[in-house]
Amino acid sequence: TPSPFAAEALELGDHTDHMAKEIEEQPGVVAEILDRIADRAVDGQLWRGLGLAPFERVAVVACGTSLNAGQVIATALRGLGGVPTDTVVASEADQAVLTPGTLVVAISQSGETADVLRALDRFADRHQVLALTNNLHSSLARRADAVLDCHAGPEIGVAATKTFTAQVVVGVSAMISALVASGRIDRSRALALVGDMQRLPGLLAGAAEASLDRIPLLVSSVRDASGFLFLGRGAGLPFAAEGALKLKELSYRWAEAYPAGELKHGPLALVTDGTPVVVVDNGEHKIQANVAEVRARGGFVITIGGAGADVPALGRDAGRLLSCRTDVTDQGMSLWGPLESVVPLQMLARELALQLGCDVDKPRNLAKSVTVE
Ligand code: G6P
Repeated sequence: TPSPFAAEALELGDHTDHMAKEIEEQPGVVAEILDRIADRAVDGQLWRGLGLAPFERVAVVACGTSLNAGQVIATALRGLGGVPTDTVVASEADQAVLTPGTLVVAISQSGETADVLRALDRFADRHQVLALTNNLHSSLARRADAVLDCHAGPEIGVAATKTFTAQVVVGVSAMISALVASGRIDRSRALALVGDMQRLPGLLAGAAEASLDRIPLLVSSVRDASGFLFLGRGAGLPFAAEGALKLKELSYRWAEAYPAGELKHGPLALVTDGTPVVVVDNGEHKIQANVAEVRARGGFVITIGGAGADVPALGRDAGRLLSCRTDVTDQGMSLWGPLESVVPLQMLARELALQLGCDVDKPRNLAKSVTVE
């Protein structure tokens, strides 16, 4: 595979579509990002180099897939240093009240999303803005106080894939660096966290490999379903949201993501014989109970593997396990959750779209860069 940063990156090569290529590039993108910034994250230099003042709180502002990446970063930040972190839907920024000392982290792969720029009109006077973008020449990059390059290389597919993963890795690295620089975490903790991140390229590649053969058959079993539920808990939830978003964008099927615990408060009424329910398993005991409720109603459960998703326990449903995270550390799941789960989720959405005859690179009604509010 050529580097996603080389000139030939724009060409499809052996791939049938840009989405397939961009999904496959993710391990390489993450490895390249970590080569560039891992050391500077550990010693705090990544943050110091941005020239921003210390912060008390963080507000992440974004739309769509970038907002889901922001949810992952927010979850990590809360867990890391207990920093209060809100996520703000950019088009709803008028509703947000930010206290002094709040750092605004604006995330946009294009850097041109009108809703995000409009949100800055509201925040930029009184708050420092850190932009995470894949376009250093964008309006967002120009307007922010500091910019971090997501360094994903060109992304042609309208539905974001590798930019999501890059945003998470760059955003979490920056926050680790900020917490080291402010003394909220020590260097050895940062080293352990960054060491954990170094396993991501292997995990992302492994998730793709483990899912490749299973997905076409699995999708043919649910191809005619009118709607899909996606469930997750805690750090797994933003990935369930991203899986549902990808499926909607690409296959034009209804898909809704829910915290698994909320299932019994409404969405369970949707589950009948054969209803596809995609579960991002974060290994929590409680999620198994939620899954059992779905199974009892005849739901067709597809598990995106977590620590608890071991094949023997799944019994008759083992064929619906898409990837298995086998190397959860002693401390449990990573602070940023099961990032590798995004790969089978992207592949699932793409395969369904292909089986339904949709254009996976150019979904109807959507644009890569949305410059209207
Ligand atoms: C559009 C695209 C989404 C994307 C969102 C945010 O709505 O269809 O896939 O996630 O914009 O884009 P951005 O460039 O700000 O990350």
